[in-house]
Order: sequence, then structure tokens, then C-alpha cells
Amino acid sequence: MRLEPKPLGDCGISVSPLSLGTVKLGRNTAVKYPSTFSLPSDEEVISLLEMAREFGINLIDTAPAYGTSEERLGRLLPGLRKDWVICTKAGETFVDGQSIYDFSRSAIESSVRQSLHNLRTDYLDVVLIHSDGRDLEILNETDAMQTLQKLKDEGLVRLIGISTKTVEGGFSALDVSDVLMVTLNLKDQTQLPLIRAAEERGCGILVKKAMASGHGDATANLKFSLSTPGVGSVVLGTINPDHLKQNVETALAL
Ligand SMILES: NC(=O)c1ccc[n+]([C@@H]2O[C@H](COP(=O)([O-])OP(=O)(O)OC[C@H]3O[C@@H](n4cnc5c(N)ncnc54)[C@H](OP(=O)(O)O)[C@@H]3O)[C@@H](O)[C@H]2O)c1
Repeated sequence: MRLEPKPLGDCGISVSPLSLGTVKLGRNTAVKYPSTFSLPSDEEVISLLEMAREFGINLIDTAPAYGTSEERLGRLLPGLRKDWVICTKAGETFVDGQSIYDFSRSAIESSVRQSLHNLRTDYLDVVLIHSDGRDLEILNETDAMQTLQKLKDEGLVRLIGISTKTVEGGFSALDVSDVLMVTLNLKDQTQLPLIRAAEERGCGILVKKAMASGHGDATANLKFSLSTPGVGSVVLGTINPDHLKQNVETALAL
């Protein structure tokens, strides 16, 4: 049982249609999941990552805002670095139970350098601006994207973009992004026009909250995102091995 990678837009990399989101590896406070949970042990994380790898999952999504997620992946990710596509973010940190946003040049640059350190690597495959919802303001009034472009030019980052919250922000970001991360599930289909436009432009689309963060019919939601044209990879957050297996089975059955 193995997923086959496919090209992510015109980005020049191939990713599994289903990938692993890692909020739940590092943070269990101020999250919107239906039930509380304990962070998995190192052994459980290793076993989940090994399982993902065996299923052909090659894309891992993390962020500085996901508590210890980056640091744990840096220590525990199995196999060779080059076999993984690591996506992280910049602009949001989670300190003392609260999100802090800073999209200044210095904050973005030091965030990326800290991610390289946490993830124990000398390059990041994808770095996305972690929007707080003010997408247009971030794009038009800060140096966030220009800073990512500079880090890309320096070879520290391969692909750049933004994890948006608004359709207008997404459309505006198309000009400066290789990859966008957007919400898509049966209850929230507002990003469909953007996904179509991104596909025409060769911009890679990663889907977040495909299962509405666990609120809804998991299988129906997953089938919907996976079968939407233009979606490069559906980033699913799970720490349950049975759910991971079930999600891969759903993807392979389509
Ligand atoms: N602003 C941003 O950039 C942003 C925001 C949100 C998310 N993300 C990224 O997207 C990823 C996914 O988003 P998300 O974690 O919010 O939500 P999601 O993937 O829509 O849903 C995750 C929830 O669904 C449950 N689940 C997974 N598979 C299931 C199955 N087969 N049956 C029943 N329940 C299942 C998980 O519980 P179990 O652990 O029990 O399986 C988890 O509680 C995140 O991990 C993160 O990497 C990015």
C-alpha cells in the first residue's frame, strides 16, 4: 500500500497526494480539535513517521507555532533528508500559550534560521508566511515575501509562499508564490476559485483543515479534497496510526 508522488504545480518537486500535518506532535493547547489529547511520546512519533514513510508520504508540514513540532522532527525524522519535503512557516510563534505575529524582515529571517536549526538541516523545501488573517496587509505592507525571496535566492529555501485565510489574499499572493496553503473541506469551499487559478498558473496548492480539524465526516471530507483538481497535497493532521492507515486507504481507493 503506497502513495505515488506527483508534481506540485510547476514547482519542480513531487509530493505525495496525502501528507502529514504535525500540529499535534508539538502543541496541545489553544487548538480547535474536538477533543483534548496528550502529545505523543518520541517512540510514538518515530513509529508514526516510519509508517507515513512506508505509505509513500514524503511531505511533512510543520511551523514554529506548533510548539515542539519542528524540534521533534529534527530529532526524529527517519531516513535521508533528501527523501522528505519539509514545509515550515514563518511569522507566527506560540509563546506562553499565545500566538505572536511578526512579519518584519528581521523576524522572518531569524525564524527561518531557527527552523533550519530546529529541523537540523541546511535547506528548507517550502517556507510559507503563517498569516494571521490579514493576508493583504502582510503582502502589501510588510517585507515578509521579499524576505522569503531573498532567502530563496541564497539557497536556504527552495519554494516560498503563504498560508492564507482570505480568497483575495490568495489571488494577490499568486504573483509572488510558488506554493499556497489554503483551507478546503465540504463545509468551506470558498477557496475553490483560487485553487483553479493557482492550477492555471502552475502554483502548488497544499490543503489545510481538509477534515475541518476533526469536525465532520472524515472520509467524505478527505475524498472531496483529494479529488479537487489543482490540489497538490492534502496535509492531514493525525497522531493516530489507525487514522493514518485509513486515510491512505481512502486516497488509494479514489
Ligand atoms: N494556518 C496554517 O498554516 C494552518 C492552520 C491549520 C492547519 N495547518 C496544517 O494543516 C494540518 C492539518 O490541519 P488540522 O490538523 O487543523 O486539521 P485536519 O487535518 O482537518 O484534522 C485533523 C483532525 O482530524 C482527525 N482525523 C484525522 N484522520 C481521521 C480519520 N480517518 N478519522 C477521524 N478523525 C481523523 C485528527 O485526529 P487524530 O489525531 O485522532 O487522528 C485531528 O484531530 C495541520 O497539522 C498543519 O500542518 C496549517
